Amino acid sequence: MSVQIDPRGELRHFLTTEGLDPRLLGRILDTAESFAGVLGKSVKTVPLLRGRTVVNLFFESSTRTRTTFELAAKRLSADVLNIAVDTTTTKGESLLDMLRNLQAMQADMFVVRHPQSGAAEYFARHVDPGVAVLNAGDGWHAHPTQAMLDAFTIRRHKGAFEPLRIAIVGDIRHSRVARSQIHAFNALGAGEVRVIAPDTLLPADIDTLGARVYNDLNAGLRDADVVIALRLQRERMQGALLPGESEYFRHYGLTESRLRGAHPEAIVMHPGPINRGVEIDSALADGPRSVILDQVTNGIAVRMAVMTMVLGVQPDTAREAS
Ligand code: NCD
Repeated sequence: MSVQIDPRGELRHFLTTEGLDPRLLGRILDTAESFAGVLGKSVKTVPLLRGRTVVNLFFESSTRTRTTFELAAKRLSADVLNIAVDTTTTKGESLLDMLRNLQAMQADMFVVRHPQSGAAEYFARHVDPGVAVLNAGDGWHAHPTQAMLDAFTIRRHKGAFEPLRIAIVGDIRHSRVARSQIHAFNALGAGEVRVIAPDTLLPADIDTLGARVYNDLNAGLRDADVVIALRLQRERMQGALLPGESEYFRHYGLTESRLRGAHPEAIVMHPGPINRGVEIDSALADGPRSVILDQVTNGIAVRMAVMTMVLGVQPDTAREAS
């Protein structure tokens, strides 16, 4: 049994979308839908996590992910601690000691981002019973809430997953987002998941991930319903994997005209941060097909959903009881 699932089959932590029961993924989306309704009202808070403490523990920089986790916790009436750990000036305290100290302050949930793959699972294996861990991105491995907010955004714009062709373009190799998306979209029943990249930006295990591989952008975009651009993650690249950014844009940069081969109603997504003119043209990023800012908004509802699920709080029963 995986560490993120409890003996009753419920979500205990949220570490990866890999191997998750499609019904659980569907429940995350349905629960998020109910929170999206609350977020549309003028009073946006619900008391579901009142008295609980959420610790955002970020060992890597983040804008969207950290702030939307913070907002999600606040919308659920939890107390939130934000800790940005500068790994260059740590005082030699081990991860485990840090965790024990934070637990001594009665934290109920840790939201962890760390440059090392497996860091969130390490935390999950060492927390006290009843304390939950959410992975906010671990190395190249996984970023499950990002994948679920992307799935939520797709479902809101396109409905059912079955007929959809979803194309992910760019630096797949270093992208924890792409990995989590491929697992989630396949589990949710997507018709076809494609990745489009030069061989140097594909991971060695790409053939095992369940995506159809294209080196050619035009071929990969043909009839796509959803097109997702990824940032070139230069901070994770070692050696020269690319000839240069303008050369990259010429072959893999998304523009209005390159999207002509996609479905006429294709939507364009990007997890952010965007590098304009590198992986995506400004006219496209800011144009009518773009749902990039919807993704950011949807991140709040999806993170609220996951936070309540890992603590075993049912939105309806808790609301009635409060
Ligand atoms: C991504 C990440 O950090 O993995 N961004 C995000 O969480 N919105 C992708 C990236 O940094 O390019």
